[in-house]
Amino acid sequence: MGQNSQESDGEWRRCVCPGSYDPVTNGHLDIIGRAAQLFDEVVVAVLHNPAKRGTFEVEERLDFLRVALGDQLASGQVRVQAFAGRLLVDVCREVGAVAVVKGLRGTGDLGYELPMALMNRHLTGVETVFLAADPALEHVSSSLVKEVAAYGGDVTGLVPDLVLRRLLELRNRSQGSQGSHGSQGSQEEG
Ligand code: PNS
Repeated sequence: MGQNSQESDGEWRRCVCPGSYDPVTNGHLDIIGRAAQLFDEVVVAVLHNPAKRGTFEVEERLDFLRVALGDQLASGQVRVQAFAGRLLVDVCREVGAVAVVKGLRGTGDLGYELPMALMNRHLTGVETVFLAADPALEHVSSSLVKEVAAYGGDVTGLVPDLVLRRLLELRNRSQGSQGSHGSQGSQEEG
């Protein structure tokens, strides 16, 4: 992506919101929206390891994000991109991001995120900005919503509508197939 005049004036700031997004949750969307209030552009980076199969194919994860972020994508302030088998610091360098933005849902997240933030800063100097998760969404993670949905729990309001529909489809399919025990969460990334 070429530099526009705003970008080259020195005040312009792009950040990366990285994740597996397998699938995107309303917790992710809250963080992306708040990052867009702090930075001029947000790159939502779907980072995936080609050696690991997620629950959803990367193209479908991107579709979920594109639909959920429709207005923000149209405004040009947010874009969505997939990166395979890459270090986050290299992604930041490639897109010209000065910071990584992540949500923190509690001390468990901090223990997981802090070493990565420090390592990323060690590698290239890129900073990580942590945003406190909305308390109403503190219990929401991709893996938990998948597990709850797989066993018939209601995750309405925790994920975008399209994701909700796909989780219900997966649940119906696994119920319909003989000998299946809700294996949609196996071999997950992240
Ligand atoms: O949504 P997730 O699974 O919590 O996201 C984790 C992710 C993809 C952001 C993290 O695993 C990551 O940054 N992966 C890219 C590879 C990398 O840079 N690893 C070294 C981190 S210090």
